[in-house]
Amino acid sequence: MTSTLSTPVQKKADLHLFPNGWYQVAWSDEVKPKGIKTIHFFGRDFIVVRGEDRKAHIYDPYCPHLGAHLGEGGKVTGNTIQCPFHSWSYNLDSGHCQSIPYCEKIPKRAQLKSYPVIERHGILFMYYHAQQEIPSQDLQNLPELDSNEWVLSKKMTLQCRGILRDVMENIADIAHFKYIHGGDIIPESDIQIEDNVFHCNLTNTVTYFGKTLPAKTKLSVLQPGLLFVRILSPMDFMFLSGATPIKKDEFKLNVMIFLRKSNIASRAIKNLLISYELKRQLEEDFKIIANRAQQHASLFCAADGSLVRFRKWYEQFFSPMEEI
Ligand code: FES
Ligand SMILES: [Fe+2]
Repeated sequence: MTSTLSTPVQKKADLHLFPNGWYQVAWSDEVKPKGIKTIHFFGRDFIVVRGEDRKAHIYDPYCPHLGAHLGEGGKVTGNTIQCPFHSWSYNLDSGHCQSIPYCEKIPKRAQLKSYPVIERHGILFMYYHAQQEIPSQDLQNLPELDSNEWVLSKKMTLQCRGILRDVMENIADIAHFKYIHGGDIIPESDIQIEDNVFHCNLTNTVTYFGKTLPAKTKLSVLQPGLLFVRILSPMDFMFLSGATPIKKDEFKLNVMIFLRKSNIASRAIKNLLISYELKRQLEEDFKIIANRAQQHASLFCAADGSLVRFRKWYEQFFSPMEEI
């Protein structure tokens, strides 16, 4: 019997807010010691600054004095950043202004607004919260990424029009793997939520050159835009994908592909195949996501159970509308 599931889903307007959580905002090597980089996410600018001590910080970019943009001509000296306009200088650890070259008295409110930062696996993560609250959960550790058994083989950056949830929920949208990505069958899925991570284990088959092979994939959504994937067969690799909203209907996706250590020649071939296949699948997804209705009450069928579970789980990342 065919039936439809009518489930209370995220309120339409909520989806146009940015979910709260840790987001990938830059590669570590994009910000050298004493470097300043302007980034644009969540509809506005931020600056990423690295002091001489190599510690990274993220701030609102505007100087509290007269609002100059510190990413446009600001200068890092030691562990301070100096505004290009009247040379007020701010301590990078506290954000407080520590000197005004033409005035001894420093206004109490002269402080840069900072955001929580974690630097891991060559990535800078920033915590975003709609009401500027402190992180309610830690960024999960992924020791595999720093293990000696794996090598980073490729980094990719793509940009797509659309809402963040739409790309993240793809992992639980089991049917799309067959109809969009051309899988042999609709995969079997096993959903588990552990320590607030949404795991989806998929089992299906793939046919290469007339030969059908079992395919096993473990997908884990760790944060509202952070996905870790282990492909167990037919190939053995993993990737981390960090999607961050640029504005309400556009996001940036950074992908790191890791291969097992093996000889360089075999790695180079695998790298080519995997990057090509991943890019192809992402482009297939993006074509749908960029053109999906953004104000749409979804109508599920009985086979959409994993997707419905994902949507319910994902609701936790949104602040209630009335509090914003
Ligand atoms: S605007 Fe920055 S020091 Fe004046
Ligand atoms: Fe997909």
